[in-house]
Amino acid sequence: MRHQFKGEDFLAFKDMTKEEILFITDLSLDFKKKWVSRESHEYLKGQVWAALFEKNSTRTRNAFERAAADLGVKVVYLRPDEMQMTRGEPLKDTARILDRYFDGLFIRTFGHEIVEQCAYWMKNPVINGLTALEHPTQGIADLMTIKEKKGKFEGLKMCYSGNLYNVAYTTMIFCATLGIDLSIACPKGLEPDEKILEETMKRAKESGAKIELTQDFDKALENADIVYGMSQYSMGQSEEEIEYLKKAFKPYQINAEAMKKAKSDAIFMHCLPAHRGEEVTDEVMESDQSVIFDEGENRMHSIKAILAAVAN
Ligand code: CP
Repeated sequence: MRHQFKGEDFLAFKDMTKEEILFITDLSLDFKKKWVSRESHEYLKGQVWAALFEKNSTRTRNAFERAAADLGVKVVYLRPDEMQMTRGEPLKDTARILDRYFDGLFIRTFGHEIVEQCAYWMKNPVINGLTALEHPTQGIADLMTIKEKKGKFEGLKMCYSGNLYNVAYTTMIFCATLGIDLSIACPKGLEPDEKILEETMKRAKESGAKIELTQDFDKALENADIVYGMSQYSMGQSEEEIEYLKKAFKPYQINAEAMKKAKSDAIFMHCLPAHRGEEVTDEVMESDQSVIFDEGENRMHSIKAILAAVAN
């Protein structure tokens, strides 16, 4: 069991134990208390971190910048288009140079192998701000939100509707690890990443969580404590793929009728940004069941906890 993250990378839930996931979630909730009580927590004063975003971001980038400011960390924002890496400099050279200047790297990029390569070449910690495979800082914020709203993990049921991609994979791993039943509603033909599915099923066997992929949206919604909406397509997909996915996901829209099929006290979650009128209606987003802005705020507390835990 390893509760000490100091100096380590934070790359993916698939690499983390149940104890580690719970440790960071609880630490995030502690940091939220400090924020609410306005207790100063400049624990990392003097550190300087690099933030490299190869994709757009509203929540992750700003949550990281604010979390860092509260911890006393200066952030240097790196624009990929201004760096030599976009002119072909190898990642292993870029990573080793950044490692000489900064106390750590927060990175949002494309393939998961990119963050793994950064972690390999850097001695200082690397935090994954989203790859094609996982979105672990989102996962911790989601767990904080579930704990706040439902008070527990084990025995809950989540209905997930949306594209099978990074957020789905992180969600699959945390549900399987913590004993949350997960019913993923998606059209025929969509298959999750094989290795993530394998890891999910292995963990579900240990926790007793029931994990299923179904085309039956009503079945997925039945008895759900959490209805999780996710974009039907992802950044970087072609116009053709997007059109196909929009059509295929049409029957899986989370609207007021769908919410009625879940438990009456079910909460609606979404990592945002949402496409109102596509995967979810405006009515559901604005309803009392929606916890999306608490979830969004929790991005900051969770990133702060992750940063505090891994920083040297
Ligand atoms: N949920 C999330 O990662 O939001 P951003 O893309 O705005 O960072």
